[in-house]
Amino acid sequence: MDVFESIAELRAALSPERRAGRSIGLVPTMGYLHAGHMALVDRARAACDRVVVSIFVNPTQFGPNEDLATYPRDLPADLDLCRAHGVDAVFAPDVSAMYQTPIETHVEVASLSDILIGRHRPGHFRGVATVVAKLLNIVQPDRAFFGEKDFQQLAIVRRMVADLSFDVEIVSVPTVREADGLAASSRNAKLTPQDRAAAVAIPQALALAQARVAAGERDAGRLVQAMKAHLAREPRCRLQSLDICDAASLAPVETLGKRPAVILVTAHFGAVLLIDQREIAAPVESPA
Ligand code: PAF
Repeated sequence: MDVFESIAELRAALSPERRAGRSIGLVPTMGYLHAGHMALVDRARAACDRVVVSIFVNPTQFGPNEDLATYPRDLPADLDLCRAHGVDAVFAPDVSAMYQTPIETHVEVASLSDILIGRHRPGHFRGVATVVAKLLNIVQPDRAFFGEKDFQQLAIVRRMVADLSFDVEIVSVPTVREADGLAASSRNAKLTPQDRAAAVAIPQALALAQARVAAGERDAGRLVQAMKAHLAREPRCRLQSLDICDAASLAPVETLGKRPAVILVTAHFGAVLLIDQREIAAPVESPA
């Protein structure tokens, strides 16, 4: 497995692979790899001849009061995991290799970036779209792999790729969960033991909504109220956002069952922001 810090060296290593007709898969990450990332890597390994993992804690997607400085990092452990999962190349640049300062060019998927999570994290999705665009330009993969946990991010990446005509297939991979249902996340490692135990309230709230839908509930407002009531019973949970939206457009949904929908939750436990989602399996009515 090769490790590259420079864009030029990574490109020089990948161009003969491309010329030889070998397909390239990219798994973009911010490191501190866990089972969720490795599911993306395994999917890429099965689908592509060469697998590149990028490890870059992207400063432009963190707000001034967010956790850039304390975001967990462990490159040696990440490299061991990548080796064990058959990764061919890791791209681990530092900030100066990725960005000239000041940064003058940004990519923004306008209508999808300021809603939902974007309401609470101004500039976050502009930073994500810009760095993903850069990584796609640098690696020029045939396929890039993203987790469904970051559902809004996935929708934004798909729209950016379509709008800017990137020649890449975006592959989404279901959320990997810990034994009690908490979505795998690098940030879980920053939870105190008490907050880690309490964080199970999020997947519980999502399961409760799913059970109510299975029992016939179709009113999104009532589902949101039920989930909020469940989360409010956990004093360590500070809910940031809870939305039910159309799984394709992310527009708010009032009545379930017309089109596929998704519940998106973000909540703080201590200083740690957790994100989760669940696509709702309400039987979708066929149009009359
Ligand atoms: O999901 C992440 O880890 C990041 O947002 C990404 C896609 C690697 C961009 O920095």
